[in-house]
Amino acid sequence: MIRTGITGLGMSVPDQVLTNQDLEKMIDTSDEWIRARTGIVERRIVSDNQSTLDLCFEAGTEALQNAEIEARDLDLIIVATVTPDMVFPATACLLQDRLGAPAAAAFDLEAGCSGFVYGLITGAQFINSGAYSRIMVVGAETLSRITDWEDRNTCVLFGDGAGAVVLERVEKGGLLGFDLGSDGAGGSFLDLPAGGSRQPASQETVAQKLHYIRMDGNQVFKFAVKAMGQAALKALKKAGLSGEDIDLFIPHQANRRIIDAAGRKLGLPGEKVFVNLDRYGNTSGASIPLALYEAVAEGMVKSGDIVVLSGFGAGLSWAAAVLEWN
Ligand code: UT7
Repeated sequence: MIRTGITGLGMSVPDQVLTNQDLEKMIDTSDEWIRARTGIVERRIVSDNQSTLDLCFEAGTEALQNAEIEARDLDLIIVATVTPDMVFPATACLLQDRLGAPAAAAFDLEAGCSGFVYGLITGAQFINSGAYSRIMVVGAETLSRITDWEDRNTCVLFGDGAGAVVLERVEKGGLLGFDLGSDGAGGSFLDLPAGGSRQPASQETVAQKLHYIRMDGNQVFKFAVKAMGQAALKALKKAGLSGEDIDLFIPHQANRRIIDAAGRKLGLPGEKVFVNLDRYGNTSGASIPLALYEAVAEGMVKSGDIVVLSGFGAGLSWAAAVLEWN
């Protein structure tokens, strides 16, 4: 049986920090409200000349160095994002060119905040089947570009960043189980309505602010509280494990209250739940690989540990993966 594991990690966040105090000057909000309702303190925002591709390139380059392989060794690049540089070509193709990975197939994957875990699991199938040996999966976003900075219901939540991994065949451990799912009936709770074939960009769509994130926060909250813990439990079951086996839970960093609810559902003490939401906000597809990177960098993951990744988001969608770290 072929096993797939993560052999390299990289991350990139923009230098520019936007604090809750900065937001207080922009909209009718308060640091106190944002901290209490979300757990977010600050987030990173790209500069005018930066794009999602730039963050992908920095994170991807570090992941290659960390895995000790060259870009030309890559067979496939998957970029999970809802903020590609443009509608087409795929940001993954732009990344393939910039990294110098001529042998790699490349595509973007759009599964909202679940995108990175969807990508990780998709990539693992190519390795497990024996088709490919080295795959890069990047979760990257510049959500600041699709945020309505006058809408206090959404703009306090989001930030920019990227996390990348290299997947390769491993002798032991690696991906032990996963759960993927979607509930398209809830699609309208979190969307960006215009700019596609339904409502092409026009002066009207711009005037009506239809190129920004729209969200029914309460509906997404209810969905998330249920979905994130449930997906993790299903993935654990498929791996023959339970909540007690988790050494570190790395949830999608959307809201501290959602993270705490998922931790409780899994029966986990606080120290087994990784949180960096306070510093980056919700970075959608980037949030889980950014958190994984920092957890490893902080020495919170050791060889043999069971690490569970779980995300939810637009679609609505969810995705969880159980990894034995080696
Ligand atoms: O990656 C997936 C993406 N999305 C999510 O994960 C979002 C999931 N949802 C949430 O995280 C929460 O629903 C929010 C953080 C978005 C909102 O928190 P909430 O506790 O559900 O607040 P609420 O929407 O019920 O609003 C409570 C009050 C309202 O005022 P009234 O009607 O009670 O007078 C809002 O207008 O808070 C008000 N409010 C704010 N006040 C200060 C909403 N946004 C703000 C704000 N600052 N930024």
